This record gives sequence, structure tokens and C-alpha cells, in this order.
Amino acid sequence: MASLTIRKLDDGIKSYLRLRSAKNGRSVEEEVRVILREYCEGSPAPTASPASSPAPAGRTAIERNNPAGQASVTLIIGGGIAAFKSLELIRRLKERHVDVRCVLTKAAQQFVTPLSASALSHERVYMDLFDPGSEFDAGHIRLARECDLIVVAPATADLMAKMANGHADDLASAILLAADRPILLAPAMNPLMWNNAATRRNVMQLRRDGVQMIGPNAGEMAESNEAGVGRMSEAVEIAAAAIDILRPPRPRPLAGKRVLITAGPTHEAIDPVRYIANRSSGKQGFAIAAAAQAAGADVTLVTGPVELRDPGGVTVIRVESARDMLHRVEAALPADVAIFAAAVADWRVANEGEQKLKKTSAGTPQLALVENPDILATISKLTDKRPPLVIGFAAETEHLIDNAKAKIARKGCDWIVANDVSPASGVMGGDRNTVHLLTRDGEEFNVDSWPVMTKEQVAAELVAKIAKAVEKNP
Ligand code: C5P
Repeated sequence: MASLTIRKLDDGIKSYLRLRSAKNGRSVEEEVRVILREYCEGSPAPTASPASSPAPAGRTAIERNNPAGQASVTLIIGGGIAAFKSLELIRRLKERHVDVRCVLTKAAQQFVTPLSASALSHERVYMDLFDPGSEFDAGHIRLARECDLIVVAPATADLMAKMANGHADDLASAILLAADRPILLAPAMNPLMWNNAATRRNVMQLRRDGVQMIGPNAGEMAESNEAGVGRMSEAVEIAAAAIDILRPPRPRPLAGKRVLITAGPTHEAIDPVRYIANRSSGKQGFAIAAAAQAAGADVTLVTGPVELRDPGGVTVIRVESARDMLHRVEAALPADVAIFAAAVADWRVANEGEQKLKKTSAGTPQLALVENPDILATISKLTDKRPPLVIGFAAETEHLIDNAKAKIARKGCDWIVANDVSPASGVMGGDRNTVHLLTRDGEEFNVDSWPVMTKEQVAAELVAKIAKAVEKNP
């Protein structure tokens, strides 16, 4: 049997073993035996070493802690009767998929037990600044930094005074002093304490320091016959405030704007059962509708027959033919932006059969075609209701940019999204797109060529450009 000399291991591994064995109060040799036993018994093998693979700079706390992107909160529970509500707060945050690590002050342990906090958070609870089990690698710094938000609930008058004055004589205050994360306080104290000049000063100082607060609310106090401002906010309110900080509302640059989009193919009837169609899937137009909606726009999507679900929050009008599409587009005006992503059939059958065409001895039926209305050109040339920004698409199989430039001039639109739809590109019906955005600056054209992107990415990029243009010309 081979023997293992720990001295000869890599420095990174030695360092990891030293830290891990110190943390667990074992010798390094014993720690190695435990690791091997755990491994053989099927426990996951230790992978990351805190010493040999520090968190790469630039990654967010969410990525560092939790590759799945789950947000995490360090919850400091202060010593007050309201501490019992913090147990519910743990539950509320966990329900919202937030990881919670609890720190209990000495006084908090008089009101809630570490066991309850640990059982609800499914994590160990931290209480002692000098705990060899967590401070072997400066645990208070990790508790302060390896989270996305620090919540203090209840934030007692004493904890707030310590914070306002930069004390760090216990684990909670040391974490708060070492923090580079947002801090949310849920103050809870007797109304006289809340109104005391010292607390007023501390509150003002903390606000100036960028600390956020929720509550306190007015109401009955635990002390009999006392009421006033000082009750800690309810767990549900604190959880909502925490979520607002963790997931700030997305910017909505198109709020208040009406965006009209066409998508998909059109079906041009030959008779009641047959039609002329094309291979458009509608994916790009639907993605633009979803992106515009996410940017806050009021979106109407007029689509030909496609097998896609309505994007949430979008008014979807389903049509068959080019003429239907034109009517519904005209009826949906006015709009601030119109984007014509539909692959409208250029022609329809001149004499659509009222009955199904039959094979007869008279020979093969001849289909005469007539041109469909050009929706993009029609809307671009409107004088009264022309949307201020009209965008067309140019699907080409050759001479992409030149054809797109000619199309802007011919149709009278402002921008063209040109894409190569030659069979080799796989764009038609596919999930990716390679596009060039042509915009006009007087007589000059600007061509912005984007790399291969998913249709969602193209949509997001286009909507970002639209938002910029709308911002310039509100
Ligand atoms: O002329 P072409 O079909 O290449 O033009 C493509 C652009 O014109 C697209 O934006 C398409 O939605 C629009 N179009 C239209 N009505 C038509 C034909 C094309 O809106 N009848």
C-alpha cells in the first residue's frame, strides 16, 4: 500500500488542509482520513479550496456564493422582543429563493434560539466574533461581503448607535463595519427610545451613510399601555423591501410609448383549403415585441399564422393575409414606433376560388397573381398618422447592404434591419440571426453590423437602439 506524505503535497492543497483541519479541530492527518472516508462513502469530494482558489475579482457576490444566481442575505438579528418576527422573515426570504445566513447578537439569544434560526435558514448560525470555527479565515469579513444584502432586524437602538459610531466589539457590529454591501435596517424599539435625541442623531447619520431603513411602524408596544412609533415592520414588509434592493426594477426606457410590430408570414388563399405561404417562423418579431414590452412600451403585435405563444403583456392580433394585416396595422395607429418584421407575401391569387379547386379534364389550373399592398411603404408614406420612427426588415439572399439601402429609399422608412436569409445562413425558422442595422443621417447611411446573435439578443439590441433614438427625439 502506498503512503502519502502531506509535506510533499502542493502548497495550495496543504494550505486548504491546514485551514480545514483547524476549522474542524483535527490534525491534518486526521482531516485527510475524514476527506477520504467521506469520498468513499459517497459525499461530494471537496473541490474549491478557499486558500488556493480565491473568488475571482469582478464577479458579483451572487456568482461567488451561488452559481445558480440565487441572491443571499446576511440577517443580523438584534436583541429585542421583535426578534421573533425575524424567524418569519427568514421563511419569507427563503420562499422568495433568497439564501439567508443568520447572525445572532448576544441579546438576540435571549429572545430566539440559534436552533430555530438554523432550522429555518438551513444554515449554521453565527454568534461569536472569536469563534475558531468561522474566524479561522476572518469569517466576519466573509459574512459582510459574501452576500448581496445585510438586513438587521430588529435593529435595536443600541445596534444603531454602534453602527452610527463605527463600533466593532461583537460579531454583528464588526460585520456592519466591514460591509461593502447595501444594508437594510428594520428598527424596533420603545417610542421614547426612537424619539430620543441620540437615536434621532444616529438615524440621521446612518441615512447619510447610505443605510436604508424600513419602518418602524406605529402601534402597540410589548410594554403594557404603551403605543407609538417603534414597532418593527412586519416580516412581509421587510422581505418586500429586501427584494426591492436585491432586484431593482428594470429600466423602462420605452414607458409611455406605443410600439406596433408585424411578424410572421402571411397566408394568401388559393381556395378555402389551399394557400401560398413562406417559411417565416415569426420568432424575430415576437422577440422584438417581448423586448419592447420589457422596456415598458405598450406593444401591439399583428402577426400572421405562427406557432408561437403570445408574449406576456402584449396585445396580439392574429391575421391571415397581407390585406388583413394592413387593415389591422392601420387600425392600431397611432404609434410612436412601427417595426415591420413580417414576411408579407408579395403576391396573392387574383381570383381566389370560392370552392376547393378540382382536378378536371380541362387541365392544370393557372394561378394569376396580383400584388399585395406593401404595408411598410403604405405606413411610411402616411402624412397624418406616420409613426415618428418606422423600421423595416430586408431579408436578402445577395447584395444585402446595397439592397437594404435601396429599400429604405423605395419604401420611405427610417431604418432597415437587413439579414441574410440565404439557405446557408439558417435564419429562416432558426434561432439565430446575423443582422446589419441601417440608419439614415440625411443622405448618408450608417451601417451597424452585429455579430451572430440569438433572435432575443437581436431584439434586445434593436430595442436599446430604439430607446436611445426615442430619448433623443421624445
Ligand atoms: O420588399 P421586401 O419584401 O423585401 O420588404 C421587406 C420589408 O417590407 C419588411 O419590413 C416587410 O415586413 C415589409 N413588407 C410589407 N408589406 C409587403 C411586403 C413587405 O410590410 N407587402
